[in-house]
Amino acid sequence: ANYGIPVSQHAILRTLLTGLRRLEYRGYDSAGLALDGASIDDQTVETLIQSSLTKPRSLSNHVGIAHTRWATHGAPSVINSHPHVSDADAQFVVVHNGIITNFKPLKEMLLSKGYHFDSETDTEVIAKLLKYLYETVREPDARLTFPRLVMHLMHAIDGAYALLLRSTAYPNELVACKVGSPLVLGLKPATHEEIIKEGSKANFFFSSDASALVEHTDKVVYFEDNDIAHISNEGELQMFNFGDPATRAITSNRSIATLDMELEQIMKGSYPHFMLKEIYEQPDSLTQTMRGRVISHDSSPDDVSRNHRGDVHLGGLSQRIGDFRRSSRIIFVACGTSFHSCLAGRQVMEELTELPVSIELASDFLDRETPLFRSDVCVFVSQSGETADTLEALRYAKKCQALTVGVVNVVGSSIARLTDCGVHLNAGAEIGVASTKAYTSQILVLIIIALQLSADSRAKQGRRREIHDALLTLPNLVTKTLKDLDGRMKGIAERLKENTSILLFGRGFHYATCMEGALKIKELSYIHTEGIHAGELKHGPLALIDENMPVILFAGKDACSGKVQNALHQVTARGGIANMLIVGTEGDSEIEKFSDKVELVQVPKTVDCLQCVLAIIPMQLLSYHLAVARGLNVDQPRSLAKSVTVQ
Ligand code: G6P
Repeated sequence: ANYGIPVSQHAILRTLLTGLRRLEYRGYDSAGLALDGASIDDQTVETLIQSSLTKPRSLSNHVGIAHTRWATHGAPSVINSHPHVSDADAQFVVVHNGIITNFKPLKEMLLSKGYHFDSETDTEVIAKLLKYLYETVREPDARLTFPRLVMHLMHAIDGAYALLLRSTAYPNELVACKVGSPLVLGLKPATHEEIIKEGSKANFFFSSDASALVEHTDKVVYFEDNDIAHISNEGELQMFNFGDPATRAITSNRSIATLDMELEQIMKGSYPHFMLKEIYEQPDSLTQTMRGRVISHDSSPDDVSRNHRGDVHLGGLSQRIGDFRRSSRIIFVACGTSFHSCLAGRQVMEELTELPVSIELASDFLDRETPLFRSDVCVFVSQSGETADTLEALRYAKKCQALTVGVVNVVGSSIARLTDCGVHLNAGAEIGVASTKAYTSQILVLIIIALQLSADSRAKQGRRREIHDALLTLPNLVTKTLKDLDGRMKGIAERLKENTSILLFGRGFHYATCMEGALKIKELSYIHTEGIHAGELKHGPLALIDENMPVILFAGKDACSGKVQNALHQVTARGGIANMLIVGTEGDSEIEKFSDKVELVQVPKTVDCLQCVLAIIPMQLLSYHLAVARGLNVDQPRSLAKSVTVQ
């Protein structure tokens, strides 16, 4: 929204369209926008850009809203794409991120009142309901203002939502509100005084995440649940909280945060795809994750961390580290790739803390209403910090009064703000829908937490030092792995690209690698894959093995080596060696014996618990090259979204 500054509609249109491009990774089923009077829906952001040429007009106030969709209710189609409108005259216009859970009874009520629906979405109910409320609600002693109308709407709807609303009944005004789903406001110009004291004549940018704001401003306000922002016809911003019975304006005590994000971070640069860029960023992202936390033995004397030389230091946990250590168990909660990083970190967490450690899929954790106690620590691991299942599990843990810890990449995200304490990944923005660098940074953070928790244990010092020193050399080993294996994995992808199924086996520290490798391949190439614990092979999956079934086996040189070889022999006996890829460790002579019978890819040797960081890299490269070889959209696999903010 632009107020008081003469600017053409084209400029606003460009802002909306580039904003959509930046947010496309969150959902890309269809796109649409509404600017001042007109609205356009289309199949994709790209086609929307082509079709959205409007006549330029220079006005001093413009309000535009735009949306890129990840379908929940109703197929991806032009008719279901946002914005949705209240009637043929588009008196009320809405874009929505989230789900309205009670949309069915509301729709029935509105149908009985003669409203007509065009789409199958839950969102259309919001536009129609606004019109209905506008026509029926009477305020006892005041005019029904736009924000008051939205409060009535929020009374009526349930679920999770971030909404942007405009109306011809309130020309040039805009209302934004949220419950459950993320919403951030960007301010420009944005000195505290200008906005808070004088009310601003300025540009306001509302977005589901900061990536659409970063090229306009670094001054942002994160919405809390039930916050309502209103921009008046005069361009004055006010924020209210719906939960506050007095509904007093709270603009004056909302703090303005400064974004620490550069535009280059969210651009592809010279890479053809974000995913490849992010795979190649890993030596750097891992270094950033460790910066100031894993302190080398020879850190400079003026280093703030000199007290922690040769050890680890996690400032984000320091206030609660005692509670963490005294806890009776640690529960990791996550979804998707983040769940796999928990799987990768669990063993070393158990070994170093000697506490029971369990890992939970957020959705299953909630389904079971798992018993939780004040003595429990729940660690919520999430790249985006917005995944609805994980966020809901966090709310549940808070209700049970467990200590909550966030391991999150996106600064200012809901999980980062709601947890009692935490550790940011510092991996930089991840845009490719398939997570790569966040995964490896998550594993590192979990291992550093384990090191921090065991700092006082004399018995663990040798093991801790071994892991600490291996962490410092890891980025160089990642660089070597990328250099050695990219070409190889491209060739292997060419050979595997026509297959319909691939099985991946691993155990111990590589149980996570086979699970994550399988997820990467299936989400990018649409080839059916299964990650299977190698110990389970004999309990069913062996029936699938013959000379045609491609098998990928992860073989670490660790405590599980002998058992992994059992699996190798079981597969060999069923002819499975004909189509086998082994991901092993350099210098492992036992596995090298098979090199003339199987495809053998070796990653450098590091300490056992970090071997999974190196072994996943050939799988990231393989899945990338499979998607390219099959002509698929690498950064936007079908039906997926980067951050799933609905349950
Ligand atoms: C989505 C993404 C996955 C991600 C998962 C969890 O499904 O496509 O790549 O692993 O959500 O996301 P989070 O942001 O919580 O790590």
